[in-house]
Amino acid sequence: MLQVRDLRVCHGRVPAVHDVSLSLAAGEILAVVGANGAGKSTLLRAIAGLMRAEAGTIELEGRDIGGLPAHQRVPLGLALVPEGRHLFPRLTVQRNLELGAFTRRDRGEVAASLEAALETFPILRERRAQLAGTLSGGEQQMLAIARGLMSKPRLLLLDEPSWGVAPIVVSRIFETIQAVNRTGVAILLVEQNVKRALSVAHRAAVIQTGRVVAEGTGAELLRSDLVRRAYLGM
Ligand SMILES: Nc1ncnc2c1ncn2[C@@H]1O[C@H](COP(=O)(O)OP(=O)(O)O)[C@@H](O)[C@H]1O
Ligand SMILES: [Mg+2]
Repeated sequence: MLQVRDLRVCHGRVPAVHDVSLSLAAGEILAVVGANGAGKSTLLRAIAGLMRAEAGTIELEGRDIGGLPAHQRVPLGLALVPEGRHLFPRLTVQRNLELGAFTRRDRGEVAASLEAALETFPILRERRAQLAGTLSGGEQQMLAIARGLMSKPRLLLLDEPSWGVAPIVVSRIFETIQAVNRTGVAILLVEQNVKRALSVAHRAAVIQTGRVVAEGTGAELLRSDLVRRAYLGM
């Protein structure tokens, strides 16, 4: 599904991602975990086309997409749910969802996707006429994920979905991610919540200061000394 090779991404002249290589199979959940400032968002933004890579390649289903602007990557099946969600707080839940389908022309199909999203997220059906800014943190994250699905992605990039969500609702968010994955959508999940992310991921990579320092299955990394010491305080 996704093959990233030797990717380097800079902020100005300062590299934030150094020669990162990752691959993700169709239908898989790959977690990329690491501390604040490790380069996780920079990596996702480069994959989505919001930042230019200085070096390396990005292939989606065998096609080199590295030269395409973000809006041309969306119809190829890639959607980013950004850190901090970036909803339109003064628009309704329904309008926010409809805007997630901005690259799609067929009205009937968009209506079907809206119906599917409201099916997957019943709380959003209840709230569909409400302004997005009036939702709770957990509901806003559900809306951001549902909006991402409105472009019919085969790969969803999720940047810190547990950010700003009440602790009691965090489990619901991770259950939702697994439910979305079961519908056949591959997921690249970026998280500071290392324990939760590794628990739902099929495979995972740990990044520190822009470099991949460990890779394995989620279960393997959860048991590793590196993760236990650096992220779980054990
Ligand atoms: N807009 C920016 N301008 C300059 N440096 C940035 C910018 N955004 C992030 N950085 C730097 O890039 C590095 C990686 O940041 P980021 O990708 O946001 O990490 P993470 O998402 O893992 O917290 C950090 O050192 C951060 O300070
Ligand atoms: Mg980040």
